[in-house]
Amino acid sequence: MDISSLKQQFTAELAAAASEAELRALRDKYLARKGGLVSALLKHVASAPADVRPALGRQANELKQHIDAQVGERLAEASARRPAADAVDVTLPGRDPLIGHRHPLTLLRDRIESFFLRQGFLIVEGPELEDDYHNFEALNMPAEHPARDMQDTLYLASPVTSATGTPATLLRTHTSGMQVRYMERYPPPVRLIAPGRVYRRDNLDLTHTPMFTQVEGLVVGDDVTLADLKGTLVAFAHDLFGPDRGTRFRPSFFPYTEPSAELDITCASCGGSGCAMCKQTGWVEVLGSGMVHPAVFEAVGYDPERYTGFAFGVGIERLALLKWGVEDIRLFYENDLRFLEQFPL
Ligand code: DAH
Repeated sequence: MDISSLKQQFTAELAAAASEAELRALRDKYLARKGGLVSALLKHVASAPADVRPALGRQANELKQHIDAQVGERLAEASARRPAADAVDVTLPGRDPLIGHRHPLTLLRDRIESFFLRQGFLIVEGPELEDDYHNFEALNMPAEHPARDMQDTLYLASPVTSATGTPATLLRTHTSGMQVRYMERYPPPVRLIAPGRVYRRDNLDLTHTPMFTQVEGLVVGDDVTLADLKGTLVAFAHDLFGPDRGTRFRPSFFPYTEPSAELDITCASCGGSGCAMCKQTGWVEVLGSGMVHPAVFEAVGYDPERYTGFAFGVGIERLALLKWGVEDIRLFYENDLRFLEQFPL
């Protein structure tokens, strides 16, 4: 093949070469010391007749330089176009930053507080380290009272001074002691909720944690009735679980209320027909409540002949299990983000 058609062939192949790899292969094809087309041509020149040898040699060398320069130029262009390893590709879709949110139990507590604030309730808080008097005795549970066994208590090895300045001997088993603490200090009327942590000597299982959260409620006035209790708590249940849920009050027993009742709602899993979730009853328990026992009023110096009131206590974790259909209470304390992220604001 003559030199000018070799050059033409190269020009066409250069135009077709798209990638850096193709450009390098093209250079090898022509210039590789072994087997390159131009290299072979140069060897040929040595055996050409003496009169044409110098001209042939010059042309072949020019072609060699031409190919080297052309491929070199294209390679330089290609490498200038290639993005640097750390370059930002602004055409890629953005990545959302991870934004935290409040824990589901906090969300639920806020929701409960907001309901009762709208009903004119006050929110009060009190000590988790408590004394026997406020946790039991003033709630109509004197020493040796069998109702103390309803809750397995965690006692302190030795008394410590609580936030209130009095010696505490136990971790409160419920928030009901806040009824006593508030009434001791303030006269009627009363309309409060007292949210907070409580502790019991329970082993961890699907429905128990040794620490959990309750909201206590107390309403006292001149003529507070059972109808007020029912109206308030049914409205609360409907606010939280939706107005279509069935509700019922079932007689119960608590030493600090008489009469006492537990509030049930229809089971969300079966809609009331009975299933494993509700032990075939169609109902699930939501909270305990009742009319304040006269003995409690006497303990705090309220006149039981003049005042009446209702009280209730509800577990936030229990509400969370019911509301969101969660089957294991421990999930709320394991802080696995894959779980916690399922409860948006
Ligand atoms: N203290 C009870 C508990 O921890 C809940 C409770 C029931 C509170 C009835 C009340 C009440 O104020 O009237 O299970």
